[in-house]
Amino acid sequence: MHPNGNRGTYETVAIEVDDHGIGWLYFDRPHKRNAMSPTLNQEMGRALDELEADESVRVVVLTGRGDSWSAGMDLKEYFREVDSAPSHVEARVRRQSSEWQWRRLMNFIKPTIAMVNGWCFGGAFTPLVACDLAIAAEDATFGLSEVNWGIPPGGLVSRALAETVPSRDALWFIMTGETFDGRRAAAMRLVNEAVPATRLKDRTTEIARKLATTNPTVLRAAKIGFRKVQQMSWDQAEDYLYAKLDATTGHDPAHAKAQGLSRFLDDKSYRPGLTSFEDDQPTP
Ligand code: COA
Repeated sequence: MHPNGNRGTYETVAIEVDDHGIGWLYFDRPHKRNAMSPTLNQEMGRALDELEADESVRVVVLTGRGDSWSAGMDLKEYFREVDSAPSHVEARVRRQSSEWQWRRLMNFIKPTIAMVNGWCFGGAFTPLVACDLAIAAEDATFGLSEVNWGIPPGGLVSRALAETVPSRDALWFIMTGETFDGRRAAAMRLVNEAVPATRLKDRTTEIARKLATTNPTVLRAAKIGFRKVQQMSWDQAEDYLYAKLDATTGHDPAHAKAQGLSRFLDDKSYRPGLTSFEDDQPTP
């Protein structure tokens, strides 16, 4: 693990890169339950730039220091203080927030995993859903508390829910403000899996290492392709995905497509349907 190296200086986020190519990106305001202040939003943008440029990083895991993933938008610094600021300040603060919370994360060139270790409230649902995969501790607590203090879920929280959760569940939690745990989050597909807190880091590492050993050009095209076609007609999607396939084959220095076909057709050494995720783990 190389916690510092030549890394940027941050007050509210932290980066650690381990020897397996996993970049651990932390919300690092545990005393404020990792609430997302304007400073944190701005620093997350810089930190993602840094992780994107670092060739030793193959996968990014977004997690929180202490007992929180993130308690959502900072009610003081993001709301109260900005409410009374000039409108151009409010516009800038909102832009910096959405810039990393969904735009950067969704289009990030490397795979991303949200590792939800504790409290996850309100605005934190946006980066949660914008990560490609999400693993939660079974006892993590999720909540859309907004109605309890007089506002509807703002920013892109409702949009993020609509992307992942059936509307019966989404409206239940939006309208009651009740909390739910990691098990329920997995049952309604807000996260991929919930595991006991003691296994959270190991399980996330296992998945991250699998992604870290998968061809990065192909993974990038696969994840971006999936996200983009959700807004296209079948006609447009077919054209776009074939263009993406051809571009990937042309840009892939490792020639993964030719190698993959050869493993199946010539060597007969690999049959995806007969290989489980666990069997396909890289040798440590
Ligand atoms: N914005 C700003 N500050 C926050 C915050 C938020 N969203 N969430 C927690 N904090 C601050 C508290 O004000 C407190 O600061 P202080 O020590 O200066 O008084 C500190 O973090 C610790 O919070 P506390 O409530 O004492 O911790 P807890 O462990 O008892 O409870 C939570 C944790 C997450 C359940 C609770 O802080 C909470 O409900 N936060 C609000 C969550 C929310 O509604 N978020 C939606 C925002 S969109």
